[in-house]
Amino acid sequence: MKFGYFDDQNREYVMTTPRTPYPWINYLGSEEFFGLISNTAGGYSFYQDARLRRLTRYRYNNVPLDDGGRYLYINDGGDCWTPSYKPMKKELSFYECRHGLGYSKIQGARGGLKVEQLFFTPLFFTGEVTQVRLKNETDRAKTISLFSLVEFCLWDAQDDMTNFQRNLSVGEVEVEDSTIYHKTEYRERRDHYAFFSVNSDVVGFDTDRESFLGLSNGFDSPEVVLEGSAKNSVASGWSPVGSHHIQVQLAPGEEASYIFILGYVENARDQKWERPGVINKARAHEMIAKFRTDDQVHAALEDLKSHWNSLLCKFQLTSGDEKLDRMVNIWNPYQCMVTFNMSRSASYFESGIGRGMGFRDSNQDLLGFVHQVPARARQRILDIAATQFEDGSAYHQYQPLTKKGNDAIGSGFNDDPLWLIVGTAAYIKETGDFSILDEAVPFDSDPSNTASLFEHLKRSFYHVINNMGPHGLPLIGRADWNDCLNLNCFSEEPGESFQTSGPSEGPVAESIFIAGLFVYVAPDFIELCRRGNLVEEARQAQMHMETMTQTVLEHGYDGEWFLRAYDAAGEKVGSKECGEGKIFIEPQGLCVMAGIGVETGEAEQALNSVAQHLETEHGIVLLAPPYSTYYPELGEISSYPPGYKENGGIFCHNNPWVMIAETILGRGERAFELYKKICPAYREDISELHRLEPYVYAQMIGGRDAVNFGQAKNSWLTGTAAWNYVAMSQAILGIKPSYDGLVIDPCIPPRWEAYSIVRQFRGATYQIHITNPNGVSQGVAKVVVDGEEIAGNKLPLFLDGQAHQVEVVLG
Ligand code: BGC
Repeated sequence: MKFGYFDDQNREYVMTTPRTPYPWINYLGSEEFFGLISNTAGGYSFYQDARLRRLTRYRYNNVPLDDGGRYLYINDGGDCWTPSYKPMKKELSFYECRHGLGYSKIQGARGGLKVEQLFFTPLFFTGEVTQVRLKNETDRAKTISLFSLVEFCLWDAQDDMTNFQRNLSVGEVEVEDSTIYHKTEYRERRDHYAFFSVNSDVVGFDTDRESFLGLSNGFDSPEVVLEGSAKNSVASGWSPVGSHHIQVQLAPGEEASYIFILGYVENARDQKWERPGVINKARAHEMIAKFRTDDQVHAALEDLKSHWNSLLCKFQLTSGDEKLDRMVNIWNPYQCMVTFNMSRSASYFESGIGRGMGFRDSNQDLLGFVHQVPARARQRILDIAATQFEDGSAYHQYQPLTKKGNDAIGSGFNDDPLWLIVGTAAYIKETGDFSILDEAVPFDSDPSNTASLFEHLKRSFYHVINNMGPHGLPLIGRADWNDCLNLNCFSEEPGESFQTSGPSEGPVAESIFIAGLFVYVAPDFIELCRRGNLVEEARQAQMHMETMTQTVLEHGYDGEWFLRAYDAAGEKVGSKECGEGKIFIEPQGLCVMAGIGVETGEAEQALNSVAQHLETEHGIVLLAPPYSTYYPELGEISSYPPGYKENGGIFCHNNPWVMIAETILGRGERAFELYKKICPAYREDISELHRLEPYVYAQMIGGRDAVNFGQAKNSWLTGTAAWNYVAMSQAILGIKPSYDGLVIDPCIPPRWEAYSIVRQFRGATYQIHITNPNGVSQGVAKVVVDGEEIAGNKLPLFLDGQAHQVEVVLG
């Protein structure tokens, strides 16, 4: 069952009912100011950091779900309703929500009045613009009262939810003309305020929540709206809000439009005040002046659209499969950019106060956006690397505003360092910019203690070598990629952190996953050494790679698949000898991606075992059989009910590792089959089961042992976005950036006859047409560039700003 449809022409998903199985959201903002918005106008906005600079309040875990947002109330001759359906939930004669790239448009109609709200954050603007258009579709005149509403958060979202003894006394506002200024704590250390304005006269306003709603009322029945007139309340403490009351007369067929701005302003410390107690509003006035007219709004929206065009045109596919094309061309790269902006901080499953930027997460996310924003990817790499410690270990997370490592979690996740090599290699392959390796980068954010980025990568590589266990496999530390496999922490205390309560290291517990990742990244590290003329360094690294490969085959292979780990007692994890958790997905994907056992058959056997033991109709589960009870020696993984999250859920992040692994064995049909199982556009028809947005990936789909098998959770902020993008664009479609050029190496279902890709790469546009006359999966028979056949399958670098025709024949 569907709740809308894809409008590929406009790059929008269109919801035709507000009753989606869960709030289906979108993101506003591209650089500093961001908002989350649901299809019923719920959500919130923040500047840079969802925890420390939250502009509007949002209550996670609230009932009803997703109450609180940017609301527009209508009082049409006593009939009160909201065009976004929520919060008043009055029946609408028409409803439509279009989530586009960086904007959302919600339309609702009732009683002959049609209302359209367009929400977006213009480029380079620290605020959110809402354009409201009204149309009287009846043949009689209407007198309507409009009431806007946002509820201000007192900036620090964590404190805002907990510190009531203080917070209920500190709220302050100012009102000037049609603008409401929220200035809580500006009197003391803050140098920022928010404002909420409208480009028309108002007949009244409210800034005190209880005055607006009434003490016992929710957002669904505000007293002021029901009574039809504002109270001009001025908040002093309690809960400041912003609400305008606008009166409008509409003749039959007449239209009207309004522009609201929710903005964020920072002032220099010596310019905070206009006069004692009155804030300096100059910058707010400038921002308001930018969007006085519909033409200004229209122009800014067009700019936003061309911005997205310039990002997406880097890779455009024409395959003849509309689901595939819309994922590759629109929604998957869009989600990758959202993970670039948000990492794992703010979604409808991430509260914006929990996790900041993850070290491993951000490096993996980079794989999905590096071709869209290479310069920003470069900065991201340097920021991440600056949180690394001298011994090569790394903070697991850092805060986006301060860019400092998060002490509460610290380090000890022993896969983290290696992902820095993955991210950096991807950046250099995309851009050819080796100079990044020479950048001086701090350790532990200390500018007086720096080393080159290359040196950081070396410390990453050797952090594994310097931390080996009894089998010569890497020590796992607090956890590896699987945050919930905690082999050194034996927690028996409820509520204790599974990761950070125990020791960060143990002498014994080892990870085959990290071993696979090590072998996977080694060729890149070796290549970077060679290109830096570090011949001996490269030789050493090569030796470590070969040894690790042998060790995995010797101690990390279980006969039919790769083992997962050795626990603190030296017992096998993910082995046929185990009662539960006999086989895990991660080492099968990663070890084969690393090439381990490809020549000798273990790789093929391992992937066949995945198909036999882990694959379901909704994707590949993380492990089988799931743990039925809690095992302190395994940690959080066994804390989940069977079938959810890491305990046998379909963890969409590592499904693409198996897709990529399948292409390494040349099995394109299998790879594509696995791709379709978890890909949201292919799951649109089962939206009632999948439950989450059909246009973006979710982190997890309930596994076959879950009560809710096939139901997704944790949409948007997941490494799934980047890895599926890599699996499709590079492994399956076969457009692979390499250090010296674009390599064409597809692995497709044999029945695909042809497809085309336009790829912008290092200053040239490659118009690539691939044909498959002999129905093969893999193998490039012929490449013709601008009319001339070339040897091999690496396209030359042109760096000339021109378009070049590439004809590829498989065979
Ligand atoms: C985390 C990742 C982790 C994954 C598996 C996600 O929630 O953000 O860092 O690799 O879970 O445990």
